[in-house]
Amino acid sequence: MNAVFPGSFDPITSGHMDVLTRAARIFDHVTVTVMHNARKQGRHLFTLDERLEILREATAHFPNVSVDSFGGLLVDYMARQETGSVIVRGLRAVSDYEYELQIAHLNRQIGDAETVFIMAATRWSFVSSSMVREIASYGGNVSEMVPRASASALRRKHADVYEEREAELQAQTAGS
Ligand code: PNS
Repeated sequence: MNAVFPGSFDPITSGHMDVLTRAARIFDHVTVTVMHNARKQGRHLFTLDERLEILREATAHFPNVSVDSFGGLLVDYMARQETGSVIVRGLRAVSDYEYELQIAHLNRQIGDAETVFIMAATRWSFVSSSMVREIASYGGNVSEMVPRASASALRRKHADVYEEREAELQAQTAGS
C-alpha cells in the first residue's frame, strides 16, 4: 500500500522526518508532496523549488520515498494515485487533533480520501516549521529541530543575521 505525506514543508522539520521514517517502515512507498498555492506563495519563507530541493536532500537515504508537488486540492492529487493510497498526517500533541480531524473528515467527504495518523515521538511535540522559521530569523540554533538540509537552507536564507549574531557572541566571549 502506498501513502502520500502532504504538507507545506516550509521547511521540513525533525518532527516531519520522524513521521516520515515511521511511514516509510509501514507503507511500500511514501510520496512527500508539497501542497502549494500560487496565491499563497508570498506567505512562505522558501519558494516551492527551494522546499523541493531541501526535501530531496533530506529524504535521499529512503529507498521507498519520493518527493512531489501539487497545486490543487489534496483529494484531486489522491485521485491520481494508485488505488488504495492513503494520506499520512503526523500528530504531535492533542492540540493537533482537532484541526487534523476536521481536514480528514473533509477529505473523506469531498473525495473519499482516507487519512492515517502517525504520532511523532514526544521529543518533537514542540517543534513546528513556524517556530523553526522564527528562531532562524534571529540567527538561533535550530540544528536539533530540523534535518541538515533544512538547517543549511535556513542559514543561507538568513546568512547576514547568523553572521551578525555569531560575531556578537564571539565579542561577548572575548570580553568576558
Ligand atoms: O503542513 P501543513 O501546512 O499543515 O499542511 C496542510 C495541507 C497542505 C496538507 C493542507 O492545507 C492541504 O491539503 N492543502 C491543499 C488544499 C486542500 O486540499 N484543502 C482542503 C483540505 S484543508
